[in-house]
Amino acid sequence: MTEAPLLQLNDVTITFDYAAGALHAVEDLTFHVNRGEVLGLVGESGSGKTLTGFSIMGALDDPGVVSAGEILFKGEDLTKMPPSRLRALRGSRLAMIMQDPMMTLNPTLTIGTQITEAILAHRKTTRDHARQLATEALEMVGIGQAQSRLSSYPHEYSGGMRQRVAIAIALLHEPDLIVADEPTTALDVTVQAQILIEVRRLVRSKGAALIWITHDLSVIAGLADRVAVMYAGRIVEQGPTREVLTNPRHPYTYGLLKSSPENEPLENGKLWQIAGSAPSIAQRPEGCVFRPRCAHASEACLSLPGESAGAHSYTCWHPRGSGSSDG
Ligand SMILES: Nc1ncnc2c1ncn2[C@@H]1O[C@H](COP(=O)(O)OP(=O)(O)O)[C@@H](O)[C@H]1O
Ligand SMILES: [Mg+2]
Repeated sequence: MTEAPLLQLNDVTITFDYAAGALHAVEDLTFHVNRGEVLGLVGESGSGKTLTGFSIMGALDDPGVVSAGEILFKGEDLTKMPPSRLRALRGSRLAMIMQDPMMTLNPTLTIGTQITEAILAHRKTTRDHARQLATEALEMVGIGQAQSRLSSYPHEYSGGMRQRVAIAIALLHEPDLIVADEPTTALDVTVQAQILIEVRRLVRSKGAALIWITHDLSVIAGLADRVAVMYAGRIVEQGPTREVLTNPRHPYTYGLLKSSPENEPLENGKLWQIAGSAPSIAQRPEGCVFRPRCAHASEACLSLPGESAGAHSYTCWHPRGSGSSDG
């Protein structure tokens, strides 16, 4: 018997209930992540990645709620958990690394005070010992002269170092699950890859699980075990990273890969682009969400395709590699 996934989302829908009407920002999300595994959650800006991360952390802003489905963490539904218990899990068993480290850091307190407080919030120990642990936490994310740097304020750190601190705080209590929301987007590519590799090493050595959110498929190519591709609030394709990248079945995934900056530019010097633009979630099209931009769209696509079975699955009436031509 195989072990149940550490985290399993089943048909999760996130709704904003406004007086003007309910907005389903994210619909029918089903995916999982196992212990020791890195899942890449990929999609353009506005596709619902951050909301998905917040829903797992129980941190959706009012009036956003998980209006349908379940989020099972070690078999227990996080959406039904008493707030006090969820708070105890958050920051210890579940951690999120935000896109902007200043959402985690307080500009008015020293780095040392902030890490020490984060330690003491979930662990009974002396302040001196907590400070020792804070030093070790900084060393773990590659910050040199850690002890003396504890007395610095966030503004005295570079952007990359602030992000390393936010990562160190997320990892303090050896969480079982880490959601990393584009934490390296502001950093240069070499630093990005370096941080990703470090976080992945920590995750693997502790048997934790990592959801790495990014808009850039190429960032996770060699680093995520599996990938889930989101478009307009829905997952359109998911599976083992190598399979999805080498044999994309959904035309959107294919388009994302083809428009990657890593590819050769066209004759006019520009990068190939998917025609049109992503819909706002308030105007999500009927049927397949990608239909209006898809070269293969047909009458069938006016109704929502189901998810295909198997480890590499997709929601498309005309998957690539099944007789259809390029496009
Ligand atoms: N408080 C809110 N009220 C209404 N819509 C929201 C709210 N927060 C986010 N959204 C919508 O949900 C969509 C997905 O947001 P988000 O998860 O931040 O996307 P991503 O992280 O993929 O860029 C956005 O297009 C945004 O319009
Ligand atoms: Mg986001």
